[in-house]
Amino acid sequence: MATLLHIDSSVFPADASSSRAVTDAFRRTWQEQHPEGTVIHRDLATNPVPHITAHSHTAGFSDPATHSPEQAAAFAERLKLIEELERADAVLIGAPMYNLTIPSTLKAWLDNVVLMGRTAGNAQSVKGTPVTVVASRGGAYGPGTPREGYEYVQNYLSAILTDFLGADLQFIVPELTMAPVNPDMADLVPLFEASRERALEEAATKAKQVAQRLVA
Ligand SMILES: Cc1cc2nc3c(=O)[nH]c(=O)nc-3n(C[C@H](O)[C@H](O)[C@H](O)COP(=O)(O)O)c2cc1C
Repeated sequence: MATLLHIDSSVFPADASSSRAVTDAFRRTWQEQHPEGTVIHRDLATNPVPHITAHSHTAGFSDPATHSPEQAAAFAERLKLIEELERADAVLIGAPMYNLTIPSTLKAWLDNVVLMGRTAGNAQSVKGTPVTVVASRGGAYGPGTPREGYEYVQNYLSAILTDFLGADLQFIVPELTMAPVNPDMADLVPLFEASRERALEEAATKAKQVAQRLVA
């Protein structure tokens, strides 16, 4: 039975979030393909994971037999998140752009699950896992746009998820999402609408492709 780990990090609820609309579309298609499958939904906005601490960090580099009670407790929490990721056959992440990069809640989750010698480094226990990131953003940061150099969501997540973890990463990018509410962006509303439609279509297509890979 296939397992999808679905992570959202938008601070907005489902009816007001651009990334959640697209992760939801992906998840629904995936479930149609895997009616017997399991979806684990981790909502980092409503249930944030602990920030990394000195105890949880140093515990990752030392023999568990030598851990202090504080290290053992902190590392146990980290291991739960790592094992949840390792059990997933596919991962879906909503990663809106907040102040040019990912929400701090998502960064905290990454700090927990990136563990040298296990998920990262030579071992890469989730190597090859398909990971789909919905990178919603209020503006446009694609190649050739004036803000191209300020794109720290896809650049950063590619480095972590592909280079560190060895995941098989793909992005869906609904952009210009601020156009309907920002009068200065009124001319961009048609481009926003096209981007939203494209993202929803891509969610369905990519979810099917990922699901089919898992049964193949
Ligand atoms: C705290 C915060 C900071 C934001 N910073 C940026 C930004 O730097 N660049 C940008 O293009 N949009 C920015 N936005 C707009 C969001 O990226 C945009 O609304 C996106 O669609 C949010 O996805 P969501 O609705 O799923 O949360 C910001 C929004 C918030 C709430």
